Amino acid sequence: MRGTPGAGELAVLAAAVLRANWREGVRPDGVAYAYTCPAPPRYRHMWHWDSCFHAIAWRNVDAARARAELRTVLRSGRPDGFLPHTAFWDAPARWRRAPLYATRGLFGDRCTETIGPPLLPFAWELVAEASADEPAFRTEALAELGTHVDWLEHHRDPDGDGLLSIVVPDESGLDDSPKYEPVYGRMTHDRPGYWLLMERGRRARWDSRALIERHDHHVEDVWVNVAYALSLHALARLSGEPRWSVRARRVEQALLERCLDDRSGLFFDLAGPRERPVRVSTWSALAPLVLGDLPADVRLRLVEQHLLDPRRYAAPVGIPSVSMEEPAFNPRWDRFRCWRGPSWMNTAWLLVPPLRELGHDGFADRIVASLTAAAARHGFREYYHPRSGRGLGARGFAWSTLLIDLLAPPAGA
Ligand code: GLC
Repeated sequence: MRGTPGAGELAVLAAAVLRANWREGVRPDGVAYAYTCPAPPRYRHMWHWDSCFHAIAWRNVDAARARAELRTVLRSGRPDGFLPHTAFWDAPARWRRAPLYATRGLFGDRCTETIGPPLLPFAWELVAEASADEPAFRTEALAELGTHVDWLEHHRDPDGDGLLSIVVPDESGLDDSPKYEPVYGRMTHDRPGYWLLMERGRRARWDSRALIERHDHHVEDVWVNVAYALSLHALARLSGEPRWSVRARRVEQALLERCLDDRSGLFFDLAGPRERPVRVSTWSALAPLVLGDLPADVRLRLVEQHLLDPRRYAAPVGIPSVSMEEPAFNPRWDRFRCWRGPSWMNTAWLLVPPLRELGHDGFADRIVASLTAAAARHGFREYYHPRSGRGLGARGFAWSTLLIDLLAPPAGA
């Protein structure tokens, strides 16, 4: 009988997934690219947050590729600091899917006009730390990274409250999370009306300030702002410039003052011009846990009342993407509804270290062990059933190789 792979073999399998998904070349206009596609053939393009996670995973396998991937993310955008959610590079969107991408025209665009969770400076710092062979990487893009976060502030925080807004649900990467239903209604990601949202964006030439001003369908998204704060802190450390920490603290303060719900202890998105809290418990309501500067009691409450509760998030396998108590919770594979319950590796990668930091090592170990068993049995899948551990969605899914990072002994141990 074939045994299940151990940690060493899993690391070899993970590196094989990253290598198999690697793409490099030169676009017809002469721009070079090198990136990991999330999972061919289903996900053939470059996605902003996927690539940030890929680079983090690559850094322990081949740091040169990690750097190349992040440089490609930087090249996918515009000189004004805009970086797209999806860049098409060598693989133009297929004709049937193309109109559903948030592009300027219907066909032939190089990238979307929408953003992804802004993790680039955060990933840059982690990759720089693994780049003893090229120390100059650390500071080579400080100007561009600064322009990028300034673009975000200018275009996505028109009310100046410190929180960025998204204008289509997939900008958070959590496309069809049930938290967007009360906001987007028939225009949610999995409904036919999504097409209208794309058309409206095209008509406005994806001018996000205009979209936010004219329509109610925008969200100050907790997870996107957590990513933003992580990146601002990273940029402060990379550059030594305190102005980025000041901005990071403003984001954190705004999350505490505006998104934290006293009754539940969760952080809720704020929807539309009236900033209506969206009271749906998804992993994004727990994401501020990764912000180490938030008050310990606020973070502990997220852990003790939500993550550790077997009715909510303490599932047998990983961390479900939606609280098991929510009526919308759906742990199965569902073609257009992947953020409605299954456990993902990137969310565990984000939430396990703060669990350890807050003294919940035993629980953190359980999460890692359950995901390790699932990956050993089913391979690096897009996501896993939180009760049975069954692998679901795409196979050979690149960011699921973050598991190897979770298996590594914590620094200093
Ligand atoms: C799906 C996921 C999204 C991811 C993309 C590429 O759309 O919901 O988060 O970025 O696939 O992997």
